[in-house]
Amino acid sequence: MKPRGAVYVEVYGCAANMADAEMMMGLLEGEGYRIVEAPDEADVLVVVTCIVKGPTEARMVHRISRLNTLGKPLVVAGCMPKAERWLVRRTAPGACTVGPNSVRRVVEAVRSALSGRVVDAVEDDEEPKTGLPRRRLNPVVHIEEISSGCLGSCAYCIVRLARGRLRSYPPEEIVRDVERAVSEGCRFVWVTSQDTAAYRYGDVRLPQLLGMICEIEGGFHVRVGMMNPMNALEILDDLLDAYEDPKVFKFLHLPVQSGSDRVLRLMNRRYTVEEFKHIVSKFRSRFPRMTLVTDVICGFPGEGEEDFSETVKLLEEVRPDFTHVSKFTPRPGTPAARMKQLPTQVVKERSRRVSALTRTISLERNMEWVGWRGWGVVEKPGRGGGYVVRNFAYRPIVLDVNAELGERLDVIVVGAEATHLRGKPALYSPQNL
Ligand code: F3S
Repeated sequence: MKPRGAVYVEVYGCAANMADAEMMMGLLEGEGYRIVEAPDEADVLVVVTCIVKGPTEARMVHRISRLNTLGKPLVVAGCMPKAERWLVRRTAPGACTVGPNSVRRVVEAVRSALSGRVVDAVEDDEEPKTGLPRRRLNPVVHIEEISSGCLGSCAYCIVRLARGRLRSYPPEEIVRDVERAVSEGCRFVWVTSQDTAAYRYGDVRLPQLLGMICEIEGGFHVRVGMMNPMNALEILDDLLDAYEDPKVFKFLHLPVQSGSDRVLRLMNRRYTVEEFKHIVSKFRSRFPRMTLVTDVICGFPGEGEEDFSETVKLLEEVRPDFTHVSKFTPRPGTPAARMKQLPTQVVKERSRRVSALTRTISLERNMEWVGWRGWGVVEKPGRGGGYVVRNFAYRPIVLDVNAELGERLDVIVVGAEATHLRGKPALYSPQNL
């Protein structure tokens, strides 16, 4: 195939966006384009955007402007062109665009950008994203997007405007994708979606899908991505059974967002704090050493001091292993943007208090692992050197060793920080598996 040019791809945001970028690179390579590591080596630039929060959007605008000043053809992909096309036009009027549900059109967009034509390829594609070629960002991690969009209507969320209503992909095609990934050497399969618990294709819901994936032969493990408590409740018993499979990491990402039922109603989250606690306690009684990750938004419009105290109380009671804390920022086009906003200082202060609390809780939770011994799989290089290894609960253990990505090691945890554990290689001990 005749070489067509060099493309630089930069990606921001969630695992779904990373998967989209991998598919775009795979499609471009398949058409003879070369993927390069830096903008100055490229003939055309692609930036895959995220706009989930106000500060992320500001960062995107800044980055798009910078790339635009390089004077090279530019393609803006991801969630911004779908939900805020006007912002792309204002920031980079000559850029081509590709939406999150039209990744197949990246080749057309790149070709147009190179020939100086502006193309907007943001309309949703009818085809599922399964089966597309990949150039993986990490060769041992396969990100399998099982569906796009969601069933919710959270008052604060702009993702809905970008990714749309729920569309689940056929289970057989998902299984084929994972089989291919495992045969290509992937040791981690991230089952991903805006809400994995919302997955439904005929009679197949998430637990059945996990069962089908776990039947694939090979030494891999599955990390199940974020699920809305509202949908997790419906499938809870089957989900617990599906998590029994040794291939599934005992890792639950269940965003609660607030400890106040009144605020949850304002957010239109459609579950109660009690229901969230019920799911957590069911999971913990079945898998005592699991990892629980949750998300909290501070300063949602209408959140009073009492509501905020309920969030603090919930976190102190449930003690999640890790909490993503966000300051509420109004997102254009969402109902919450039209509500009366709290003073910025109040939002900042609440977020500061919750962040300090959750950091302490995370550190204490991590300390409970010191002395633990068992297997871990090498996932990625560590930021400060060494490698990040994941154990059965998908806990990050940083090891200062020479290792291969995907290698299985026996480790002992010797220390803990708020964000990760520190470990050393240990001798093999079967009782810890
Ligand atoms: Fe961001 Fe879009 Fe994901 S807004 S978090 S990239 S779905």
